[in-house]
Amino acid sequence: MEKHNKRGLKVAYFTLNSYLCSKRNRTMGKGKLAKFAEMETFKNVFQYPFSVIDNVPFEMKGRWREDYFHNDNPIVLELGCGKGEYAVELARLYPDKNFIGVDIKGARMWTGAKQALEAGLGNVAFLRTNIEIIDRFFAPDEVQEIWLTFSDPQMKNPRKRLTSTYFMNRYRRFLTDGGLVHLKTDSNFLFTYTTYMAGENSLPVAFRTEDLYHEEGLDEETRRLLAIQTYYESMWIERGLNIRYMRFALPHAGELHEPDVEIPLDEYRSYHRSKRTPKETGK
Ligand SMILES: C[S@@+](CC[C@H](N)C(=O)[O-])C[C@H]1O[C@@H](n2cnc3c(N)ncnc32)[C@H](O)[C@@H]1O
Repeated sequence: MEKHNKRGLKVAYFTLNSYLCSKRNRTMGKGKLAKFAEMETFKNVFQYPFSVIDNVPFEMKGRWREDYFHNDNPIVLELGCGKGEYAVELARLYPDKNFIGVDIKGARMWTGAKQALEAGLGNVAFLRTNIEIIDRFFAPDEVQEIWLTFSDPQMKNPRKRLTSTYFMNRYRRFLTDGGLVHLKTDSNFLFTYTTYMAGENSLPVAFRTEDLYHEEGLDEETRRLLAIQTYYESMWIERGLNIRYMRFALPHAGELHEPDVEIPLDEYRSYHRSKRTPKETGK
């Protein structure tokens, strides 16, 4: 799809530019400025933060395959993709699937988008937006799988937790019936919560491990899939934490209920974090 040939998109870009310019002038460093400027030229990036999509509907909703990917292949989302490691690497591994990395942080997304362009990967795109409004970008049954990679556990706020029933209800609006949700995380809190959430709602769990890198007997496909390491994953591994993974199906039928459980908080992840590692400050 031509990015600039539709009136709605032009308005969106105009609004976005004004938004970005004011925000940039106030808060951003030079590196980020350059990345934002370059990203506006990337054909594989669509930028619709909350403020923009509120004014202009997303015209590619229901048309990602026809207008962008130009094939009928399944669509897989990486939500909270950061630098987009999963989106890009999965796109290399599975040329017969389409991948879309979603995040609100443009400077991180730039890394994946740039790599995908340089590698000529036509089966991966990036969407910069708030996941809270993700259903505005995809029509019913348009997406087959979702990856959640090292999502913030949001220990204090279940409504912001990407595996909460609040988000599951959002995902149901565009994920096919029984579509897969993958969760890869360092967080015992998020992993335990998600296990309870799936149990409470009888969501079929297809695979689950509390210690991915010491799990024996993984089949070749799963091993390949899980060998991809994200930026945050490498950070947590460096700190000696084990990595957890589960995938479950999300059927459409039935009302979803939040689990009513007390889960021990992750102590290493103080939400009043006062010190940041060099890697974190460099993000
Ligand atoms: C802990 S980082 C993980 C990034 C990447 N998946 C990784 O493993 O390196 C969480 C990412 O999710 C994004 N994120 C969290 N909540 C979001 C939301 N509601 N909307 C959009 N992005 C969100 C953040 O901007 C951040 O890049």
